[in-house]
Amino acid sequence: MTLASDDKPRWTRKHLLSLEELSADEIRVILDQADAFKEVSTRSIKKVPALRGRVVVNAFFEDSTRTRTSFALAAQRLSADVIDFSEKTSSTNKGETLIDTARNIEAMGVDVIVVRHGAAGSAHYLARTVKCSVVNAGDGAHEHPTQGLLDVYTMRERFGKIEGLKVAIVGDIANSRVARSNLWALNKLGAEVILVGPPTLLSRSFEQLGARVVHDFDSIIGEVDVINMLRVQFERVKSSQFPSVREFTRLFGLTWDRFQRCKKDVFIMHPGPMNRGIEIQSDIADGPQSGILQQVTNGLSVRMAVLYLVTSLG
Ligand code: CP
Repeated sequence: MTLASDDKPRWTRKHLLSLEELSADEIRVILDQADAFKEVSTRSIKKVPALRGRVVVNAFFEDSTRTRTSFALAAQRLSADVIDFSEKTSSTNKGETLIDTARNIEAMGVDVIVVRHGAAGSAHYLARTVKCSVVNAGDGAHEHPTQGLLDVYTMRERFGKIEGLKVAIVGDIANSRVARSNLWALNKLGAEVILVGPPTLLSRSFEQLGARVVHDFDSIIGEVDVINMLRVQFERVKSSQFPSVREFTRLFGLTWDRFQRCKKDVFIMHPGPMNRGIEIQSDIADGPQSGILQQVTNGLSVRMAVLYLVTSLG
C-alpha cells in the first residue's frame, strides 16, 4: 500500500489471497471502491467499461451458488469476458493437476483466475505459479476473503462504522474459512470478535488470533451488536466433533427464545447456504433484523471492487 498524491491509500496488490495479509487501510480501500460500484447495480444498464478487453476465469473445484454467480456477474458488470470453469466437467477428472489446469487456462490470455479449492493454501500456491492475478474464493478451512469483506461492508452499511462493534460468530468455527476471514477483518477495523461454539468445534487457540472464545452462547447473547451464524459444514465435520443435530441446535442454534434475549437492534447475518432449523430458525433468517440477502447483494459490489483493484496495476 502506498499513498496517492492526495494522501489517500492506493492499492498495490496483484492478488487477493487472504485478509490476514491486508492492512486496515487496504481493507478500507476495497470497501470504499465497493461503495463507488454499488450505484452501478441501480442503473437500468448495469455495466461500466472498467475491465473491457480483460478475461476473468471462475475456476471452482468446490460447489458454490453465491460466490461463483456473484464473481461472474461482477466481472460482467465491469465488461470483462467471463469463463466459468467447473471441476465436474473438466480434465481434472482425467488426473490433471491444479497447477497444470491453471497454466493451461492462463495460456489462453487470462487476466484473473478466481479460484475455490478444498485445499488450504491452494490460492497462494497458484499465485506463486501463474503470472495473472489470483483471487481466493475460498481455500479449505483457511480463508474466504471476499466473504469477510462483504460481511464487514454490510456491517459498516448498517451501523455506519465497524470500530467498537461487538460481533459474535457462532457455530462450526473449526471448519470455517468465513470465521477466519471475518476475524482478521473485524480485528483490523477495531471491532471486538466473540467466537462461540462447542469446545470440539472451537479451540482456545483462537484467542491467539485476537478473539474472545466462549462456549456458552447464552452468556453473551444480550451484549452483541451482530450475530453471524455459521453453517454447520456436515461435509467436513467429524462425528467426534458433533454429538447430535438436536443437541447443537439446543446449545448453539439461533432460536426464537435466544433471539428474544438479544439487543433490540441486533443485526443477524449468515454467509449461506443455511441449514434452516439447525443453526438458525427460519423466521429469524427471514425477519426484519436479518441482513442475509443484503450480504448477497453487497457481495456483487465488493467483488467488482476486488476484480477492478487487482487488475488496476497493469
Ligand atoms: N457464502 C458462500 O461462500 O456461499 P457459496 O458456497 O454458495 O458460494
